[in-house]
Amino acid sequence: MQSSPDISPCLAAQVQISLADRSYPIMIGSALLANSATFAGLPRSAQALIVTNTTVAPLYAATLRAALQPHFATIHLVELPDGEAFKTWETLNQIFDALLGHACDRKTVLFALGGGVIGDMTGFAAASYMRGVPFVQVPTTLLAQVDSSVGGKTAINHPLGKNMIGAFYQPLRVVCDLDTLKTLPERELSAGLAEVIKYGPIADMAFLDWIEANIEALMARDATALAKAIQRSCEIKADVVGQDERESGLRAILNFGHTFGHAIEAGLGYGAWLHGEAVGCGMVMAAELSCRLGLVDAAFTARLKKLIGRAGLPVVGPKLSAQDNAGRYLELMRVDKKAEAGEIRFVVIDGPGRAAVKGAPDALVREVIDSCCV
Ligand code: NAD
Ligand code: GLY
Repeated sequence: MQSSPDISPCLAAQVQISLADRSYPIMIGSALLANSATFAGLPRSAQALIVTNTTVAPLYAATLRAALQPHFATIHLVELPDGEAFKTWETLNQIFDALLGHACDRKTVLFALGGGVIGDMTGFAAASYMRGVPFVQVPTTLLAQVDSSVGGKTAINHPLGKNMIGAFYQPLRVVCDLDTLKTLPERELSAGLAEVIKYGPIADMAFLDWIEANIEALMARDATALAKAIQRSCEIKADVVGQDERESGLRAILNFGHTFGHAIEAGLGYGAWLHGEAVGCGMVMAAELSCRLGLVDAAFTARLKKLIGRAGLPVVGPKLSAQDNAGRYLELMRVDKKAEAGEIRFVVIDGPGRAAVKGAPDALVREVIDSCCV
């Protein structure tokens, strides 16, 4: 077990991921990035590599570098192109080029500074460089702070399917600095709220009530509201990941809305809709499916749809084909990681605050898609 870091005065909350010798803290607070104490207690190494992108680097790379300076003799930086469309082998290879170009050894610590795209790719690079080097998640989007930086899923996309190539590999620490959310574009903030909202219907209806009551504060970036949303989201995720790290069952519930959402992302081309937008709309579709399966009533579906709309997210699905739209969704969803022997498995709401994974007849899924798309 690593030693715990010094507690910074700006730390609002700390959530623990409990995975035996791979346990780690999620630090949530203000000014964490600028505080070298945030990064105390990491394994000793001469070298560190900050992996970021061309948008985030000018905003936060110098601050992170300065905070890391007392802990590492040499700090390298690699700036990747920005966007979901660059979550590819070619971009991943730029991380390996930097590591090998700087003769980084197997103790080198990687720092993922950015949103989920950077976090997923840096994690995958860390999992595979010299068969595994340590890494730290420094998520700078709301989506990454409440979901992607936590739990050890790392991946790149394949043209035929999202996040299809990757590994489970846990970070040493997750550092969620609330201040970084101040520069986040509004559309990205909404995308992050999709993953926050997700935790309500699958696990905690009281949290859903709280989000409904605080959605305006969240959209106005009220730091107290954001800290609470990040903390509760991470607590729920920590609980699920602690029980099922490698998604042999339970963890799949965290993919509520993602089966439809991944079809939207792949069908429109990665980056056309943000991941959180696709998940938001995908949750509307998955709730509609749950309703048509008789698991929740129409009022529940309407309530969720209203909240997703209030968060600034799309609630009507895009047309992926002019000829056979539902058929195209079905084709794309068969590539989903939850599919078994060609049967699509959906995360459905099995009663308020409870999720389950189920198959559904194609005809019913077609009805759902037809009713939810433009
Ligand atoms: P992203 O990484 O593309 O970031 C969104 C945009 O915001 C980018 O343009 C980025 O450069 C910019 N940005 C980041 N931080 C900023 C800041 N503080 N100020 C201004 N701009 C900033 O997208 P995302 O929504 O963070 O993550 C989506 C990705 O996460 C997808 O690839 C998805 O598959 C993945 N994901 C992974 C998991 C997991 O468990 N590993 C879970 C959910 C999502
Ligand atoms: N974002 C889903 C998971 O981490 O399992």
